[in-house]
Amino acid sequence: MADQHVIIFDTTLRDGEQSPGASMNLAEKLQVAHVLKELGVDVIEAGFPIASPGDFESVQAIAREVHGPTICGLARCNAADIDRAGAAVKDAAKPRIHVFLATSAIHREFKLKMAKEEIIRRAVEGIKRAKGLVHDVEFSPEDASRTELEFLAEVVEKAIEAGATTINMPDTVGYAVPEQYGAIFSFIRKNVRGIDKVVLSAHCHDDLGMAVGNSLSAVMNGARQVECTINGIGERAGNCALEEIVMALRTRRDYYNIDTNINTKRLYPASRLLSHVTGLSVQRNKAIVGQNAFAHESGIHQDGMLKERRTYEIMNPEDVGISRTELVLGKHSGRHALRQRVIDLGYVLSDEQLQRVFDLFKTLADKKKVVYDADIEALAEAQIHSGPVLWTLETVTCNGGSGTIPSAVVALWHQDGTIKREAALGDGPVDAVFKAIERITGIELTLSDFRIRSVSEGEDAQGEASVEAIYQGKNLSGRAVSTDIVEAAALAFLQVVNRVALRNKIDLDRVKPTQHTPDESVSGVV
Ligand code: KIV
Ligand code: ZN
Repeated sequence: MADQHVIIFDTTLRDGEQSPGASMNLAEKLQVAHVLKELGVDVIEAGFPIASPGDFESVQAIAREVHGPTICGLARCNAADIDRAGAAVKDAAKPRIHVFLATSAIHREFKLKMAKEEIIRRAVEGIKRAKGLVHDVEFSPEDASRTELEFLAEVVEKAIEAGATTINMPDTVGYAVPEQYGAIFSFIRKNVRGIDKVVLSAHCHDDLGMAVGNSLSAVMNGARQVECTINGIGERAGNCALEEIVMALRTRRDYYNIDTNINTKRLYPASRLLSHVTGLSVQRNKAIVGQNAFAHESGIHQDGMLKERRTYEIMNPEDVGISRTELVLGKHSGRHALRQRVIDLGYVLSDEQLQRVFDLFKTLADKKKVVYDADIEALAEAQIHSGPVLWTLETVTCNGGSGTIPSAVVALWHQDGTIKREAALGDGPVDAVFKAIERITGIELTLSDFRIRSVSEGEDAQGEASVEAIYQGKNLSGRAVSTDIVEAAALAFLQVVNRVALRNKIDLDRVKPTQHTPDESVSGVV
């Protein structure tokens, strides 16, 4: 046990969801929130309730359903935002409102057009208003790392007097470098009255690849909350990656002497789940959770590893929930062995879901000589229900090759019980499949990326298809696995189509008399 403890504030569902292609529906957000709770995060920033009715509903649902962590809603410094955030989190056992207002000269002059005195007045009023709704209020001087230190200290002091319980120092544009970012915390601690009454927090973006380093420097200088996201997803280059900061603190406890409440064995499953739900793949060489994070290629390294693991490995893959088992099960393996393997890999499935995984496993084991952990993970993830779908794949066939015009026939089930079939020609067989799906559903997407990779080893490995597409200016992603790569492509494309179809349906169903649209002005402030 270390002497001190740092609060892990997860913003995957708020700042993370702002990353292109990462938008999630209500069921998906709830699922991620449950996984975050299992992971042991202290605070879940569940969304920005004023941003849309969907955001409000998901923050409210998480506040009602996910017990354990503090549930936080984001608000700009105006009455409408704060009241909406308060209403969204009010049913949580531990609710928090996170109020932010930019303080840097560049934001004051060009975005807010406000003088320093006005910023302080509005920050104080906003915090007091939030304080009238919940006890736990976090205040962020947005773009803190580019704010004049004296002014930052003045704002922070007034924010504490107004009742803020956590003061966050966002490096909003990822501009800070470790020594300088750490120095901000040390300056604030020395120059602000009442600073010992609040928790200081770090919030770093990765534009220069320094989000984790900057957050660690903040911790060294007194920050006791770190804001981060699974897989480091977030605006632009992303946020501080939760798995990296947690494992840095744990692996180098000798240096930092600080613990977190995270159950590190759940890091890899959480990373996989988020990637599955958003369709955003994790880069191969990503620290902690990337496919290569524990792979040893060079002969010298392999030799060292065989002699003593610690020669080339500073962490145990098992400690982050990655199994070392290569070959797991074969077609003679029973239900019990599969169940144990699924549990060991970190998945929490119902009996019904386990039965489906078992049935699919038997079919797969008939087709493949060996079934790897990666195969089991793909089967388990496919069972995790991510909300209602309007269209389900019935069949897909395609024809291609030299000298032929690629064509496809696709049949889809609609939620209303009807089945629709269409044929299409394309530039290639996969293009033809996508066109047939577009014809059936009436949803036209602009494909921005399409990739196929094998999930495990061998010629009979399952193929994972990833699709990124744009619909009405919004980036959406889908991912699916099958032993047939054309089917995997169809399923991944259909996942994106279902996201659009569901959103269109929700928009149609929803009566919107109280819809608010966020903008960057703060008119109507408290
Ligand atoms: O990066 C940022 O400044 C933010 C704030 C809203 C905390 O995300
Ligand atoms: Zn941010």
